[in-house]
Amino acid sequence: MNRYAEILSQLQKKPERWLITGVAGFIGSNLLELLLKNNQSVIGLDNFSSGHQHNLDQVQSTVTREQWHNFKFIEGDIRDLKTCQDACQSATYVLHQAALGSVPRSIADPINTHENNISGFLNILVAARDASVKRLVYAASSSTYGDHPDLPKVEDKIGSPLSPYAVTKLVNELYAQVFANNYGFKSIGLRYFNVFGQRQDPNGAYAAVIPKWVAAMITGSPVVINGDGENSRDFCYIDNAVQANILAATAPEVAANQVYNVALGERTSLNQLFELIRAGLERQYPHLINLKANHQDFRAGDIKHSQADISKAKNLLGYDPSHRINEGLDKALQWYVNNLSN
Ligand SMILES: NC(=O)c1ccc[n+]([C@@H]2O[C@H](COP(=O)([O-])OP(=O)(O)OC[C@H]3O[C@@H](n4cnc5c(N)ncnc54)[C@H](O)[C@@H]3O)[C@@H](O)[C@H]2O)c1
Repeated sequence: MNRYAEILSQLQKKPERWLITGVAGFIGSNLLELLLKNNQSVIGLDNFSSGHQHNLDQVQSTVTREQWHNFKFIEGDIRDLKTCQDACQSATYVLHQAALGSVPRSIADPINTHENNISGFLNILVAARDASVKRLVYAASSSTYGDHPDLPKVEDKIGSPLSPYAVTKLVNELYAQVFANNYGFKSIGLRYFNVFGQRQDPNGAYAAVIPKWVAAMITGSPVVINGDGENSRDFCYIDNAVQANILAATAPEVAANQVYNVALGERTSLNQLFELIRAGLERQYPHLINLKANHQDFRAGDIKHSQADISKAKNLLGYDPSHRINEGLDKALQWYVNNLSN
């Protein structure tokens, strides 16, 4: 049995109380689903700025009535300290996902990104510290590697941030370290690399590449690749990211107050990704057989290549990704076909 299976079995025997911020979003709602299915008690906080009620409704439809009763939702904003204090009050673990994602959004509106991602983060840190939660696990980001040229990315070698978003995620890590040093507060940062899967929002100007392309292909809209398509990313299926959160929350103390890459450790170019998605949807949508992408300019703030070294998470957290990109894409595509086609 790997560590993840062991932890889930222990949690089922002795349920804990979790706070998920950003619970109505993509990653947050998947964390909620996993925890409720394992009979945990969950408080969720969200202000619906990029999350949706329909994500919560869908989770409800996948769990039993008893499991759903273990969930308490607070509609509120992490920019308000009192809201964070109320939410943290009885939590054993905090999984902090709430933030404004997207590099281009942060370039268009750095102040809003700063207030949500830095001031909001600081509020959660203070509230979690004061409520004596056992551990805060927070969503860090691969954008923190900035302009550092090395591949694969290793946790202790970072460059300069390339966007306001990357600055906010780096500042989160700095604050977490300062809280460890000054108050002995325990946290773990998970540097997610391009997470994808069910409930990732395909709509809006700042949608991530996989849901955006899938939605475009299903609806017969043009698919746009920024640049020549040779940019590459380490695409990580949602179940792997969920696993990393549970492992980080429950990891031994020696693993705390550090950051970990959460990815697959592989690299897929945008051209390859386009082909994987096109081929994956072709059976249900035969018109895609001749589809070609439209290429536009590279986007500001984007890095050319990204690939993680995941050995630290493997060694210290027992991280053992359950889905490679093809397996994850199969599941994600089926979900989008079922949920976007009508
Ligand atoms: N998805 C990825 O590939 C990826 C990669 C790196 C880092 N991250 C980080 O992971 C976290 C979750 O990302 P996601 O993809 O699920 O995004 P998402 O937009 O789907 O979820 C974020 C959630 O946080 C909520 N939120 C935002 N600001 C809030 C506020 N002030 N108060 C309360 N709730 C607020 C939103 O309404 C939304 O439900 C974010 O911190 C993001 O920066 C994601």
